[in-house]
Amino acid sequence: MIKHTAFALLLLTVPVLAQANAGGDTAGSSANTTARPVTGEQVYVQVCQGCHMADAKGGVGAGRIPALAKNSNLEDPSYPVSMIVQGRGAMPPLTDLLNPAQIAAVATYVRTHFGNNYKKPVKEADVKAIMGQ
Ligand code: HEC
Repeated sequence: MIKHTAFALLLLTVPVLAQANAGGDTAGSSANTTARPVTGEQVYVQVCQGCHMADAKGGVGAGRIPALAKNSNLEDPSYPVSMIVQGRGAMPPLTDLLNPAQIAAVATYVRTHFGNNYKKPVKEADVKAIMGQ
């Protein structure tokens, strides 16, 4: 029962992950590396918002969650990407959940929303470079 509910919740909160695992057979391995049509906003809502809040102002829960709103640390695109790839403190690395295209999309999204105006898009290749790929 409890296990079932937890699984349903996981599917609800992380459809990205559910999709990624759905067709996990041997055929067409390239499908797993192809960018999925998920926008930065969708990734933010599904993955980041639970901690950083809908307005990206962070807060104090189990620990201190920094604001991403009006955050000059985002000026350097490698800063948010490294946070997502490596994690730090209470922020876990999110590479099991997100592929490089999704990380690029959400990094671009937070750099251009919530009072941030760093227009240069983060590219999938930038993320891969930081991941050492
Ligand atoms: C489980 C909660 C959690 C999730 C999910 C999460 N974060 Fe974080 N994030 C944190 C915490 C806690 C910190 C502070 C880490 C530290 O410095 O100890 C942080 C720090 C950051 C920072 C650094 C802020 C600064 O000014 O130093 C960025 C950028 C960031 N997160 C972006 C994201 C993005 C983008 C996502 C979604 C892809 C995300 N986070 C998902 C908890 C989370």
